[in-house]
Amino acid sequence: MLDDKIILGFETSCDETAIAILKGDELLVNTISSQVDIHEKFGGVVPEVASRAHAEMIRNIFHASLNSANLQISDIDIVSTTDGPGLVGSLVVGYNFAKSIAWSIDKPFLTVDHMVGHLAAPLIENRTMKPPFMTLLVTGGHTQIVLVEEWGNYQLLGTTIDDAAGEAFDKLSRFCGFGFPGGPAIQKIGEGGDPNKIELPRPKTKHKYNYSFSGLKTAATNFLNNLDPNDKVTKADFAASYQEAIVDSLLSNFVKAVNETGVKNISGGGGVMANSRLREKMNIFAENNDLNIYLPTPKLSTDNAAMICVAAQNNLITNDIKADDVRLSSIIA
Ligand code: KG4
Ligand code: ZN
Repeated sequence: MLDDKIILGFETSCDETAIAILKGDELLVNTISSQVDIHEKFGGVVPEVASRAHAEMIRNIFHASLNSANLQISDIDIVSTTDGPGLVGSLVVGYNFAKSIAWSIDKPFLTVDHMVGHLAAPLIENRTMKPPFMTLLVTGGHTQIVLVEEWGNYQLLGTTIDDAAGEAFDKLSRFCGFGFPGGPAIQKIGEGGDPNKIELPRPKTKHKYNYSFSGLKTAATNFLNNLDPNDKVTKADFAASYQEAIVDSLLSNFVKAVNETGVKNISGGGGVMANSRLREKMNIFAENNDLNIYLPTPKLSTDNAAMICVAAQNNLITNDIKADDVRLSSIIA
């Protein structure tokens, strides 16, 4: 049984050095050390700077995490880490550190796809989430509608053909000097703004479930470039209208996919799922259609290592994998 097994998880795919410890369904530690302050002045994540910062911080964060859970390294039963997708230099730091820990204590080592981590994140707080369900995964690099027929069977129904939803927030925010990362900055600036003030496109693609966001970003920047100084448009109206266009676009394909497949459970994940307007509209959709909805809290929507722990645990449970099958000494010897 995995109920009392202690799983240590690492997530270093971008600019967060995140370490979590999960025991059964109890999250003992969820440490997230963000590099936002370091990258802010560049207006985006600089890969080389990110990997160096991970390398400098990971050891201290690891010891602090163990201390706050009141554990010794020998108490860890299973080690898990993200192996991608993400920034290669950043991934390598977490991967090698995690693997070295597993090797040194001769404990099982499991890798978890970053997007599968986001997909599994609702389980951290709600163990009742079960397939079949449709999930909307929205991050800085990906925008995906995934049908989960059963654990491990992930059908990608829709994806972006250009920018990801998070990228659409980040790029416009950078252009406007709203702040970094762009999603939370635009959400904050848009508070109290009129989401219908500015007419922005909801781009369509050839494939009914795919997304495209680059045209929206161009339309928004064109709007600003051609703005008449006499127009009474506030920053808040502009940000709220842009956010609304992204949220509407995300919802329209997702709703189509849910309705056409007839699934009764929906979920979401990824940094953009921390967006309060997107969460509100997802919840309204679920309520109006009598669907069960599983959204991770905003803190567990953005990158974290608890999702890596829970995905590793779920993988072991649902595939009935014996811990020894993933022990490094048995694989490498
Ligand atoms: O999943 P995540 O933390 O990292 C990646 O895997 O990329 O997602 C990061 C993305 C960024 O583009 C960020 O701007 C966006 O999530 N994001 C948000 C919000 N919080 C983070 N977008 C909209 N509203 C938010 N509140
Ligand atoms: Zn992510």
